[in-house]
Amino acid sequence: MGGDFVSMFQLETKRLLWLIGITFSVILAFQYLELPYGNVLLSLFSSDKVPTPENTVSQARYTNKTIVNNVTVFNQGNSTHELGFVLEPEWPQNKSQAFDDSTTNVSPNITAAVLSNDGNMLLSQKDNVTDSIEKESFRPSSPETGGNVHSKSSSVRTVPKEKQEFHTPVSEVTTVSEMNKLLIQSHASYRSMKPRWFSNVDQELLQARSEIVNAPIVKNDPKLYGPIYHNVSMFKRSYELMEERLKVYVYKEGARPILHSPFLTGIYASEGWFMKLMEANKRFVTKNPKKAHLFYLPFSSRMLEEALYVKDSHSHKNLIQYLHDYVDLIAARHSFWNRTGGADHFLVGCHDWAPSETKLRLATCIRSLCNADVKEGFFFGKDASLPETYVRNAQNPTRDLGGNTFSKKTTLAFFAGSMHGYVRPILLKHWENKDPDMKIFGKLPKSKGNSNYIQYMKSSKYCICARGYEVNSPRVVEAIFYECVPVIISDNFVPPFFEALDWESFSVVVLEKDIPNLKNILVSIPEKRYLRLLMRVKKVQKHFLWHKKPVKYDIFHMILHSIWYNRVFSAIS
Ligand SMILES: *[C@@H]1O[C@H](CO)[C@@H](O)[C@H](O)[C@H]1NC(C)=O
Ligand SMILES: *[C@@H]1O[C@H](CO)[C@@H](O)[C@H](O)[C@H]1NC(C)=O
Ligand SMILES: *[C@@H]1O[C@H](CO)[C@@H](O)[C@H](O)[C@H]1NC(C)=O
Ligand SMILES: *[C@@H]1O[C@H](CO)[C@@H](O)[C@H](O)[C@H]1NC(C)=O
Ligand SMILES: *[C@@H]1O[C@H](CO)[C@@H](O)[C@H](O)[C@H]1NC(C)=O
Ligand SMILES: *[C@@H]1O[C@H](CO)[C@@H](O)[C@H](O)[C@H]1NC(C)=O
Ligand SMILES: *[C@@H]1O[C@H](CO)[C@@H](O)[C@H](O)[C@H]1NC(C)=O
Ligand SMILES: *[C@@H]1O[C@H](CO)[C@@H](O)[C@H](O)[C@H]1NC(C)=O
Repeated sequence: MGGDFVSMFQLETKRLLWLIGITFSVILAFQYLELPYGNVLLSLFSSDKVPTPENTVSQARYTNKTIVNNVTVFNQGNSTHELGFVLEPEWPQNKSQAFDDSTTNVSPNITAAVLSNDGNMLLSQKDNVTDSIEKESFRPSSPETGGNVHSKSSSVRTVPKEKQEFHTPVSEVTTVSEMNKLLIQSHASYRSMKPRWFSNVDQELLQARSEIVNAPIVKNDPKLYGPIYHNVSMFKRSYELMEERLKVYVYKEGARPILHSPFLTGIYASEGWFMKLMEANKRFVTKNPKKAHLFYLPFSSRMLEEALYVKDSHSHKNLIQYLHDYVDLIAARHSFWNRTGGADHFLVGCHDWAPSETKLRLATCIRSLCNADVKEGFFFGKDASLPETYVRNAQNPTRDLGGNTFSKKTTLAFFAGSMHGYVRPILLKHWENKDPDMKIFGKLPKSKGNSNYIQYMKSSKYCICARGYEVNSPRVVEAIFYECVPVIISDNFVPPFFEALDWESFSVVVLEKDIPNLKNILVSIPEKRYLRLLMRVKKVQKHFLWHKKPVKYDIFHMILHSIWYNRVFSAIS
């Protein structure tokens, strides 16, 4: 950080001014016209906006799919958990207006991961993948600003272009309890590729798995409050083994700024903080790749956009190509990628585009992603949900931590934010200015240090975390940070650290379709249960805090733990 980014900050400032101007005119226009949905936004933006493949595409992707190779799609409990990259989405009739990718060269030989009948992940050469990259969905990146104009953030180019391209709800919903089942099933059924040759680390992983499965029962650990975990005994053992044994090799290859440049503020800060702390880490990092259980590809999805996205190009093919080239380089120079087909490699990406950018060449890797969407190729047992943390001050990431005590929580429910995506307009339609207990707003007016927004969070019982363009929102971690019980309204969102944490024990998950009933749902929670939820939010808080020097059980360790845990459970015997 520091000097490296001075010019970038200047750039950001310009963008911020631009954003404020635009936002203002949008708000004015919006209020003036009083259109019920956010579509008015769309028509106001013309340039610098990436059109989104709309709902019809996401639907088509799951109903009308072409299996491109002779593969058996891994069926996780009969829901739509195919590996997305195996399937070619049907493109809507006319992509020519939105895309002009015809000039970009894409390497024709891309290795896609597929799962064979016995559930093993194999590598298959797909000789005509160009096609599927062209058809690659390209959604806008969504700047989540925690509801505040002041919060300039990384990317601004975000509004879908055409009305009909506005996302609408997908019909199938995987509930949180179904997700729990899928994760457990994956432990039994999903194994990564068999290594081409065995090494000691394989044995160590299997040994760790057996020790976790047979973990001694933990009762009353002062540091770990049992009810917030799926299984505190397994978590504790797995964490201990990680601390004792895990070795990570960090590739040195790769040019800045896309590789090795941590960016530490804003809504995509998680990937930057992780990168910075991982690269500097003494405990886990090994210089000897033969001893490594995991290999880190230190790229920043945010910097990838920053450095390579061509304004108005509506294409991220060149971004994808960059990553492909990087992996090719790694695979050519070292034998480690080929040994496991990438299964012991991982990446950490918070940008909205990260899932689609990494679902081809990087499909076999463990992907730790903020945009953890069951419908976007999130793979239970392999991928991990990365918390989206909105870091306002890189010098002091835990500034303003904490919330009001119960008696000083005067508001039942709070939400504020821009009308990104399809859920928030519905939320506002039902609850804005409808009920004094429900403080549901659009974007809040600017306040110094975002204090308005933060005060609302601290003084509310429940904080509504409604999805934006994508499933993730920084509100989930913000709510925990400001000690407000999160109410997640984002179907198919896999909440962070899902492997370890039992989200139903400290948050409320409301289906998108139940928004009209939101207040009833919240008031029907008895005070006793509310107090329990609140107490657990405080217990879980430490897992979501960044520290310049990582401390036990903090967010850095939890991110690494999720990756470790997935690797341990997918290693092959
Ligand atoms: C698949 O697409 C075709 C035409 O593109 C359509 O007629 C058919 O109904 C679709 N199938 C499903 C299952 O959506
Ligand atoms: C697909 O794979 C199965 C078994 O792996 C094999 O029996 C079948 O012949 C293959 N089909 C094609 C078209 O390659
Ligand atoms: C899987 O889905 C099909 C159709 O969607 C249904 O007929 C079948 O019963 C389901 N199987 C299980 C195990 O849920
Ligand atoms: C697609 O768009 C192009 C140019 O906008 C137009 O010429 C063409 O007729 C359209 N095709 C379809 C199928 O709508
Ligand atoms: C792609 O694969 C084909 C054979 O499948 C091979 O002849 C060709 O050289 C490969 N191209 C590249 C760029 O690796
Ligand atoms: C690749 O796909 C294109 C269009 O989809 C087709 O024209 C071409 O023949 C295919 N190439 C191979 C090698 O299958
Ligand atoms: C937690 O995991 C341990 C080790 O596998 C097991 O013995 C124990 O029964 C589990 N506890 C619960 C509550 O599932
Ligand atoms: C790994 O495999 C790729 C493609 O199969 C090959 O080009 C590369 O040389 C291999 N790497 C090493 C180090 O052997």
